This record gives sequence, structure tokens and C-alpha cells, in this order.
Amino acid sequence: MLYSTFLKPYLFQKDAEEAHELAVEWAERTSNSPILKALCKFIYSGDDSRLDNTYFGLHFPNPVGLAAGFDKNGVTPIAMQAMGFGFIEIGSITAKAAKGNPKPRAFRLPEDNSLINRMGLNNEGADAIVQRLKNVKLDIPLGINIAKTNDTTIHGDAAIEDYAYSYRKAMEVADYITVNISCPNTGEGKTFEDPDALKALLEGLPLSESQRIPTLVKFSVDTAKEDLAYLVDLCESFGIDGYVATNTSSDRSGLKTSATRLEQIGNGGLSGAAIHTQSTQVIGWLNEFLQGKKPIVGVGGIHDAQTAIDKIEAGANLLQIYTGMVYRGPGLVKEIKQALQRQ
Ligand SMILES: Cc1cc2nc3c(=O)[nH]c(=O)nc-3n(C[C@H](O)[C@H](O)[C@H](O)COP(=O)(O)O)c2cc1C
Repeated sequence: MLYSTFLKPYLFQKDAEEAHELAVEWAERTSNSPILKALCKFIYSGDDSRLDNTYFGLHFPNPVGLAAGFDKNGVTPIAMQAMGFGFIEIGSITAKAAKGNPKPRAFRLPEDNSLINRMGLNNEGADAIVQRLKNVKLDIPLGINIAKTNDTTIHGDAAIEDYAYSYRKAMEVADYITVNISCPNTGEGKTFEDPDALKALLEGLPLSESQRIPTLVKFSVDTAKEDLAYLVDLCESFGIDGYVATNTSSDRSGLKTSATRLEQIGNGGLSGAAIHTQSTQVIGWLNEFLQGKKPIVGVGGIHDAQTAIDKIEAGANLLQIYTGMVYRGPGLVKEIKQALQRQ
């Protein structure tokens, strides 16, 4: 109500990235203000013990998490906890700080309740972000999502070392790490979803039992079923602890937004309601391959209680939201939790 009546009309007058920066700034202020934090808790909190669960050795008070990309620099975790999230994923962080792609690089598709972004992994870099997070004490799991620095001169062994650097840094503060192999917005224009590239990457990360913390792999929504089967087999041979499905899409089919507008926007990853069906199908495939052996984090187009339930029914154990929160506000977290409690 507060969001749809006052905040959303104000934010939606602004360019999508400017509005996002403002929302992050408000959340950062909330993190630092005892009064605003208490107010958020009063409005949004209310976890029920029926919602808590343990996955990869971590206790989740509820299954609704903040997806990667909303808080790339780790400035809002305290506020997000106060807003009722059950876990938070910061990032993607990369070994070196990066400015990302030229602006504008984030666009709303209101007719589709969706976004297109080609941010290009802008972030302050692993050192600064991990240092900041050392001062944050949370009661919910903190995930850090890692990706390769968006710089085409870093490739081959250097690309693997780049990921490994972020992994080792993230280990200093994270409860779990998500390896993002599916960002569509890099200079290379390719991802680590190529099996040879993924194998080399997993070999290069400190994944042996004694060294590692729970490690998840995040897939694209555009991955074909047979490719996904192969990639999951590969990940399983490295003992990966869980999967995040899915990242954004390069596909533009079936959108209500006009072809002219889509052409104006150009490249980027599609997120939000438009990818819900496809993302839920990918979760279903993962569930078929894994048969409950490993947790699945379902993300992609959760827009209301029903779309969250669809993901759980397809096999997701945990959920994440980003674009839904842009359109529906932070009240979406509570709406989903209340619906799950009634299940
Ligand atoms: C502006 C924007 C930036 C994103 N940045 C990242 C990122 O840095 N790393 C990542 O793994 N996913 C990133 N994502 C993808 C989200 O984490 C999520 O997988 C995707 O948006 C689908 O969920 P949604 O429909 O709830 O937004 C980003 C999404 C958006 C909209």
C-alpha cells in the first residue's frame, strides 16, 4: 500500500537505474537508523516456525531471499533482514572493481512486469565489499555471488584465478557462495556454461571438503534441458551443494512490450514475470535430475504468492526475488511468507 501509492509512482518517474540507486540509498539509511529498522520490522516481520528449515548446514528462518544484483556492494543487508528476508545474496562481486557498461543499462517493461538490464557486473570489487561486510552481523544466512571481472583482457587461467580470488575473499564473510556462471552482460558475450569452461573453473576453485563453504552454481534460464543435465552431472562430480535457477534471459519472445521499444532498449538480460514459466521449467528439470539430493533456489519472475508457490511445486526449496520487488515493493516478501504459511 505504502509502496504502490507513494513510493512506486515517485520511483517510476525516474530512470530505472536512478530509481534503483535511490532505493538502495533508502535501504542503506534504514540499516543505519534504529528507528527505521524498528519500523520496518514492525511492518514486515513475522516469521512462523513452519517456514524455517536447514539447507547445506545453514538455518533459514524463512525461504524468501534477496536475489543477487539488487545489492551488489553489500550496503543493505541489515535493512533487508528487517524487511523480513530469510537470506540475502550480495553481488555479483568480482576480483577487481568495475564500472560496468555505459548507461542507460536498465529498462522497465511495465506491460510485462519485467526489466531488461545490461549492467555488466558493476561493483566496488571483492576487497572493499568483503571489508564492508565484516562489520555486518546478521541472524540470517549471507550469500555472496561471485563472477569474473568484466574485462575482456582477463581470460584463460587468469579468468579462473579471478574467480578464485573472489571465492577466497568471500569465504572470509559469507555463509555460502554462489558461482554465477550465467551473466549474459559481459564484454566476452559468453558465459561459463560451456562444459569445458565450467570444468576448468570448478577445478580452479578451492572446493575440497576441508577448504570450502557451501557452494552453489547459478544457471541461465536459457539453458537447454540436455545441456543442463550435463552441467549438473559435472557440478555433482565436484560436490556442489545446491543450484540457483535462474538468471535472466536473452530471449524476447512472447512479450507485450512493442518490438520498437525492445529494439530501442537493445541487448540485456530479461527478468521478471516474463521469465517465470521458463524459469520454473528449469527448476522442474533440476528437480528431475537431482531427485531431492540437493537444494534448489528458485528465482525468476516471482511476482506474487502464486508464482512463488509455482516454484516450490516445481521443486524449489528456497526462493529469491528481485524484479518482483521493483513492481510490488518489499511487502511482496510478507505476502509470499503468509501464503506459504497457509499451505
Ligand atoms: C538489474 C539487475 C542486475 C542483476 N545483477 C545480477 C548479478 O550481478 N549477478 C547475478 O547472479 N544475477 C543478477 N541478476 C539476476 C537476478 O539475481 C535474478 O536471477 C533474475 O533477475 C531473475 O529474478 P527476478 O525475475 O526475480 O528478477 C540481476 C538482475 C537485475 C534485474
